[in-house]
Amino acid sequence: MSTYINSLKQWCEEVFTIYEENKPMERDNLQADKKDELHEQFVQFKESLTNEDSLDELEIYNRANELAEQLELKLKENGIPVQLTDKMRADNQNNMVPIGGHKLPPLPYSYNALEPYISQEIMRLHHDKHHQTYVDGLNKAEREMQKARITNNFQLIKHWEREAAFHGAGHYLHTIFWNIMSPDGGGKPSGNLLMEINRSFGSFDKFKKHFSEAANNVEGVGWAILVWSPRAHRLEILQAEKHQNLSQWDVIPLLVLDVWEHAYYLQYKNERKKYVDNWWKVVNWPEVEKRFDTAQRVTWQPF
Ligand SMILES: [Fe+2]
Repeated sequence: MSTYINSLKQWCEEVFTIYEENKPMERDNLQADKKDELHEQFVQFKESLTNEDSLDELEIYNRANELAEQLELKLKENGIPVQLTDKMRADNQNNMVPIGGHKLPPLPYSYNALEPYISQEIMRLHHDKHHQTYVDGLNKAEREMQKARITNNFQLIKHWEREAAFHGAGHYLHTIFWNIMSPDGGGKPSGNLLMEINRSFGSFDKFKKHFSEAANNVEGVGWAILVWSPRAHRLEILQAEKHQNLSQWDVIPLLVLDVWEHAYYLQYKNERKKYVDNWWKVVNWPEVEKRFDTAQRVTWQPF
């Protein structure tokens, strides 16, 4: 918490300087003494950060974002394009992608690097348009779910969970996809991975055949995916239709609640809500904590 607040304070200083250097000059003498309202709001925000005990991280982040957007707009109106919100997102949470702060990762090679196998035209459209749409959609869904938590209004939660799954799966899978291809690619893996492929599938050729068949037989749109199962200690090949079934790939489940009817119907009949309320009384938090601690050891570059 205090690291977050400290970095926010630093961000305030930086944004303040940028704003002061660029803000529109008052030409009208009569207006010269009139206080700049946004400037005032910003000063107040900065002061509020000193009272650490009563601070809610979500609210602070939201308020900072709101102010940054207003400042950006004001500067833009005066022909000064400054990306303060991006700056805040990049500066403030080190390795964490803040809520609504996902970004399109750059391609690790040029658009035409995979030719003749994948054309430049496809790469441009696929990366710049399609992947960007997933990033934007995920950011929107995350912000809307944050808004629901703050306002305690969960009326549209089903919709935004779907959006988060669809766009989140799209963003994470494409982020992997660009990086697991290379103009110098092809051939076979080596080392541990090859050993594990041999152990899990019999041979590299058997794996390749299985993976290709899985890909060819995805119904409609989707993906073929090689996964490591930390439970089975084996590799497996899966298909994803579209790219989600209300879930995201590249995430690790920590706390799960079975709401199939077989999990509660004998006792609760149609009263799922009662079952869910009671379920909280039997959650084994030390096990969830253990899963969380282990899961945190897997880290990819944030986007
Ligand atoms: Fe795609």
